[in-house]
Amino acid sequence: MSDTIRISICDPNEKGRENLKKFLVGMDRIWLEADSSRYEFFMQIVEQTNPDAVIIDLDSDENKAIQLISLIRESRPNCGVIAVSTRTDGPLILRVMRAGAGEFLNAPIQVDELLGALERVTKSTAGSQRAKSGSIIAVTGASGGIGSTTIAVNLACALAQNRSNNVVLVDLDLSLGDADIFLDTIPEYTILDVSQNIARLDLAMLRKSLTKHESGVYLLPRPMHLEDVDAISKDQFRKVLGLLKASFSHLVIDLSKSFHSLDMASMEMAEHILIVTQLDLPCLRNIVRILTSLEHHDGLLDRVKIIVNRIGLDKSFISISHAEETINRQIFWKIANNYAVIAEARNNGIPLVIGAPKAPITQQICELAEKLYGGGTQPPNVEPEGEKKEKKGWLKFLSKSQS
Ligand SMILES: Nc1ncnc2c1ncn2[C@@H]1O[C@H](COP(=O)(O)OP(=O)(O)OP(=O)(O)O)[C@@H](O)[C@H]1O
Ligand SMILES: [Mg+2]
Repeated sequence: MSDTIRISICDPNEKGRENLKKFLVGMDRIWLEADSSRYEFFMQIVEQTNPDAVIIDLDSDENKAIQLISLIRESRPNCGVIAVSTRTDGPLILRVMRAGAGEFLNAPIQVDELLGALERVTKSTAGSQRAKSGSIIAVTGASGGIGSTTIAVNLACALAQNRSNNVVLVDLDLSLGDADIFLDTIPEYTILDVSQNIARLDLAMLRKSLTKHESGVYLLPRPMHLEDVDAISKDQFRKVLGLLKASFSHLVIDLSKSFHSLDMASMEMAEHILIVTQLDLPCLRNIVRILTSLEHHDGLLDRVKIIVNRIGLDKSFISISHAEETINRQIFWKIANNYAVIAEARNNGIPLVIGAPKAPITQQICELAEKLYGGGTQPPNVEPEGEKKEKKGWLKFLSKSQS
């Protein structure tokens, strides 16, 4: 399965329900949207949560459960239905299938059977309408200070200009990340809070815990304290990404460049891996090293795209053709050197699409977004009235503390 599947479950038996919940929470790419102990109220829950699939245990009251299945099938034709029972007799299975269940599983459920059933019911039902899960763009660099945060932040903002996109920027530079500075925001919650509470969060709570920037981009910043850099496990982080994928169309992740386990998890789940470089020997040598290492991870190399940043900075730089020969790979995109525009954007915490929309470098980043995903960019998103909060920015914070 490639997408996150959002599931709601109904089982009046508390023990059975808790077991199923534990089982689902531990599974990759499954998001438990809601659970209910009452057949009578479950339809309402399905209407509110609009899951990709439901799992209904029949054993507490077969008649009520089968009635519920018919109801869901009628009013939510795109929702996959899986029925579960300890009974396996033919007449029961027939009634359940006639009511509209896509799959029947015998309790206790086995992981591979459930995965197969979910795959089938979500494919056969909503195919065209099911929310496609988000695409991850992992941004790293061939060296420190190469411009990867500049590109990650501004690419996220460029993607957010298309109103049909929902974009989140994740700062995975857990010790010294500065994406919050680029967007001049002081977030309330960090990636550490979200990771540690992942088992309790639903999609709505997740969105509330992110900070929305006026460009339309949501930010998930690095942890507050340096001591916390090792506090997030790969497992927790994969779940965070799974949930974000279910809620956003694009996840731009600014990696740490240390290629630690969370960086690797991001790359494994990414559709695009952007490696930012400049045209000097140390960077090109590092690209060869990175590519050689990624060769050992199934499928990663095919997703790598080399982005040359700061073209024109130094006349002694190696030529593009020589660089391509050295790394044995084509350059995917080039971004010019323009320190004045970039430094102003960064020092004022205003992304390029807002602060310098007409600058050639902004156009190059917007064109990179289009090359990756197609679709034109539009004027900046306007925040809906209800969502406006008093802006808490680093610049305001610093100027207050100086006065
Ligand atoms: N295209 C560009 N033209 C001019 N200056 C640039 C360009 N891209 C980045 N810079 C400058 O390069 C410096 C490093 O940029 P940035 O912080 O984005 O790099 P980084 O790779 O994320 O660094 P780190 O390794 O510290 O995370 C900044 O001063 C930034 O303003
Ligand atoms: Mg950086």
